[in-house]
Amino acid sequence: MRLVILDDYDKTSEWAAKYVRNRMLDFKPGPDKYFVLGLPTGGTPKGMYKKLVEFYKQGVLSFKYVKTFNMDEYVNIPRDHPESYHSFMWDNLFKHIDILPENVHILDGNATDLDKECREYEEKITAAGGIELFIGGIGPDGHIAFNEPGSSLVSRTRVKSLTKDTIIANARFFGGDESKVPTESLTVGVGTVMDAREVMIIVTGANKAFALYKAVEEGVNHMWTVSAFQQHRRAIIICDEDATLELRVKTVKYFKGLMPVHNKLAADDDLSEVQRQKKK
Ligand code: GLP
Repeated sequence: MRLVILDDYDKTSEWAAKYVRNRMLDFKPGPDKYFVLGLPTGGTPKGMYKKLVEFYKQGVLSFKYVKTFNMDEYVNIPRDHPESYHSFMWDNLFKHIDILPENVHILDGNATDLDKECREYEEKITAAGGIELFIGGIGPDGHIAFNEPGSSLVSRTRVKSLTKDTIIANARFFGGDESKVPTESLTVGVGTVMDAREVMIIVTGANKAFALYKAVEEGVNHMWTVSAFQQHRRAIIICDEDATLELRVKTVKYFKGLMPVHNKLAADDDLSEVQRQKKK
């Protein structure tokens, strides 16, 4: 597992966006080769999305040959509700870029048959050739998507009830009123994310520090579902200084010492290559 430590939220967002940019440019998506992205919602990825939109506007990135699969969605929230994950994704990313609506996939929490919706979501991921890069955030309890503590680490897309902790954490998006937070969700499973060819998790803020410690320094445990990625062959966690507060000094020093190596992954070299190609 790689652990990339940046100074603060803005630096983390920028690094994450550059990493995604470079992965997409290296992949060279085209009509016969779509880049398939798994995407999260939440406050954490907002800065990265903003930066990706900037790359699109600068003509550096195109999403024409990109397919996306979102991690999760609330059950029983109108699709056009400002806090639905549909609204979040269109407001923060999709409406600003050239992605084709038919290439966007978000679970439908209003489907009449939720189990069928989940089954078909897995089939759509398989039909798209699997996910190249699954990006995620985590809850303060270490959940990934809505895989709450105790979720099976080989779970697939399904209906999940939210824990009290998650309802409290997400009440900030519903005017601080816990009773307005949906109690159920549709979520990809830990196994669904594990199947991606690469997993990238963004962790920022002191309130995620204990979860980051559990993810990096403790064992794989279904009570901290993000810890499953210790067993992924290509997992990268991008975090800020605040999120490292519970890590051992030697862990932080080791990974910081690797920054010159890691920074190559988010370097701007590819960018000049694109600009060179454009000038031809
Ligand atoms: C929700 C989502 C998660 C997300 C988490 C953290 O619970 N289901 O996918 O990672 O919130 O959100 P934030 O980034 O706002 O802290």
